[in-house]
Amino acid sequence: MPGWISPWPTKCWLPSAPLPIWILPTGDRKLRSADHRPQACRKSFGRPGGTTTTAVADFSLDIAPGEFVTILGPSGCGKTTLLRLVNGLLKPDGGSVTVGDRTPVPGPDMGFVFQSFRLIPWATAERNVGFGLELAGVEPVRRKEIVARLLDRVGLGRSASAYPAELSGGMKQRVALARALATDPSILLLDEPFASLDAQTREIMQLELLHLWSERRATALFVTHSVEEAILLADRVVVMGAAPHSLRHIVPIDLPRPRRDEVRTSPAFIALRNELTGIIRALITEDPNSPFFNRG
Ligand SMILES: Nc1ncnc2c1ncn2[C@@H]1O[C@H](COP(=O)(O)OP(=O)(O)OP(=O)(O)O)[C@@H](O)[C@H]1O
Ligand SMILES: [Mg+2]
Repeated sequence: MPGWISPWPTKCWLPSAPLPIWILPTGDRKLRSADHRPQACRKSFGRPGGTTTTAVADFSLDIAPGEFVTILGPSGCGKTTLLRLVNGLLKPDGGSVTVGDRTPVPGPDMGFVFQSFRLIPWATAERNVGFGLELAGVEPVRRKEIVARLLDRVGLGRSASAYPAELSGGMKQRVALARALATDPSILLLDEPFASLDAQTREIMQLELLHLWSERRATALFVTHSVEEAILLADRVVVMGAAPHSLRHIVPIDLPRPRRDEVRTSPAFIALRNELTGIIRALITEDPNSPFFNRG
């Protein structure tokens, strides 16, 4: 693209170390070391007619540098909104989100796989994956190397020159994942990145992601509706509930790393799966606003 000016401050992108994420109430940073319970990060959206929809309420969570946190929760409970708050695409109405020691801003240090892929339609798979590197001024030979490796890892080595319209939903999603990883970000935000994949490809991609993540250990927030996926990937699983759209449970996942396919059938994994399935079922059947209240 002639005359392109990078919107990011760096002309030559150098990845930083993994960063912590703090989702906290206003003015809370000074209080972090004190004896204190963070309360509420909130985000609502205005609707026509003057009503508002609460997307995230009473949410607080500290994520350590290099930690992998997965988020489970029913549709509409605010998972995507939370990722957009952490990315800096949205500002909270109350509370604060801090990444490292700063208010977050989108950039090469934040890899984001959007639920709707958001690929550039006029760019090939290769160009899409390398776009962040291009913006950051990484020279073409190095860029090509990084992109080729990532496309290969997501199983799209042969589709580098295809345009998004020529790719299946699952292929687009894998391009989006490769794009998010390309700049070697210190924060990875992944919004149901495997939802469009068939079951077998999904299992392979989960292990590929673990492998790629372990090379750098970015601080990761990963949204999924799959309990098994949440356990396989995470150091902690966070469960969000529908009204009031807040954090309900945190389940630590103490399975050793590196995790391989076999872990899925281990007794510890199955016990965690049963525990989380029970928690989520209770959230749905015990919520008077749920259409499945008192069922099961
Ligand atoms: N830009 C917006 N304008 C108005 N309302 C919004 C907007 N974005 C989200 N919402 C509302 O906020 C709530 C949470 O939406 P969000 O997309 O965060 O849910 P989610 O947990 O990601 O759901 P899903 O699992 O279906 O992806 C929903 O009620 C949604 O309608
Ligand atoms: Mg969502």
